[in-house]
Amino acid sequence: MLYIGVDLGTSAVKLLLMDQDGKIQKIVSREYPLSFPHPGWSEQNPEDWWTQSLEGIKELTAECDKSQVAGISFGGQMHGLVILDKDDQVIRPAILWNDGRTGKETDYLNNVIGKEKLSQYTANIAFAGFTAPKILWVKENEPENFAKIEKIMLPKDYLAYMLSGTHCSDYSDASGMLLMDVQNKCWSKEMIEICGIRESQLPKLFESYEVVGTLKPEVAKELGIPETCKIVAGAGDNAAAAVGTGTVGDGMCNISLGTSGTIFISSKEFGVDKYNALHAFAHADGHYHLMGCMLSAASCNKWWMDEIIGTKDYPAEQAKIEKLGENNVFFLPYLMGERSPHNNPNARGTFIGMTMDTTRADMTQAVLEGVAFAIRDSFEIAKSLGVQIERTKICGGGAKSPLWKKMIANILNIKVDVIESEEGPAMGGAMLAAVANGEFASVEDAAAKIVKVIDTVEPDPELAAKYEEKYQKFAKIYPTVKNLFSEII
Ligand code: XUL
Repeated sequence: MLYIGVDLGTSAVKLLLMDQDGKIQKIVSREYPLSFPHPGWSEQNPEDWWTQSLEGIKELTAECDKSQVAGISFGGQMHGLVILDKDDQVIRPAILWNDGRTGKETDYLNNVIGKEKLSQYTANIAFAGFTAPKILWVKENEPENFAKIEKIMLPKDYLAYMLSGTHCSDYSDASGMLLMDVQNKCWSKEMIEICGIRESQLPKLFESYEVVGTLKPEVAKELGIPETCKIVAGAGDNAAAAVGTGTVGDGMCNISLGTSGTIFISSKEFGVDKYNALHAFAHADGHYHLMGCMLSAASCNKWWMDEIIGTKDYPAEQAKIEKLGENNVFFLPYLMGERSPHNNPNARGTFIGMTMDTTRADMTQAVLEGVAFAIRDSFEIAKSLGVQIERTKICGGGAKSPLWKKMIANILNIKVDVIESEEGPAMGGAMLAAVANGEFASVEDAAAKIVKVIDTVEPDPELAAKYEEKYQKFAKIYPTVKNLFSEII
């Protein structure tokens, strides 16, 4: 049998075809536009996701025996608000996870409703990118759109709906809406009331490895795939990536260097960071996880390379970096504001420490190091909660860079396990589909049988010590410049 994993990302949808033994048969990718209609806003058209996913599935399955495609599942960009009217038409462009427009609504939720109550209802507090503040924003700023809402869903759930006709979500992704009681895995009546919506507008909730329906006949016909093909709930992209990297069960860690940067710690027990700097979400393996999310990770490097120094040859730029642990230039990677741990949509990217002898390589190095230092900020919070992490997996576009992996290993002073396939969410999606179709006894079983570690980057004690000193300096920069950010935007 064959399984399709759909990674609905921010710059592109990546589709992966996997056989029942976990072997990747083919990967295709299709891009779509991302728009920033105002500084700090970030939107996409769900119709683009759908068209590109459909075309991507056709390309992916062009040479295979389509009758063997038994399941499709997803890893999707989280938190995005997708709203449909009574005729299933998309009401307005989706407001994405890295959109910072909801400062006012986030403040209202955290300060008027109060962090303690939010944490009690949902296990989390409000962050600008979460879905509930966006619903409040639409209610306040676009009342005519708010009045039309019949269905509320997350990005990948729009694909599941278009493929199967089921209005569904899964616990991992729904955790990031600030509408779900994460511990008890149900919608929070209190949050529904606070947002002025009805439970009937929200999707039905499933475990990530549960079947939500089968392909609609007309879609099956268009794709040439059997109508019996199962559509499986899937997960938020970070939980799906964790499945794809074998970060399941207790105390495992995965770092994702994609458009966003995340540190993801799996846990069999439900737990909350008492400062709510880390998200406490459900996991796609049926359990829970803690996660720190920075809004710009590999995207900082992409911005620096493509927009500022104007090159596409990332490895050549990185080859010029020689003095690890000795850079006096620092970079705060807050190009879209920051989520974890600062929760500040007004934070901005900042270089500091340049002198007349600073080189282009020093600046590139500062960008890569700044992202790794910011991941360490969330890592420190996890450590302060008593979580012991000695090693991590790694995935996402940034994980292709050996230099960046070395920086992560030494800045966090942990081992970085490199796995055979760093496809993350798409692989996780395909694995969830295979579990749902009975190929594996559980998500953990699938991970144990499929995911292979092929190399480990060990921290070097001397370099780790140098980076420790640099991190202590980095950690002082944000508190020093923080108050300036709201003045300069
Ligand atoms: C996680 C988050 C991002 C997006 C990226 O909380 O907002 O990682 O899921 O796609």
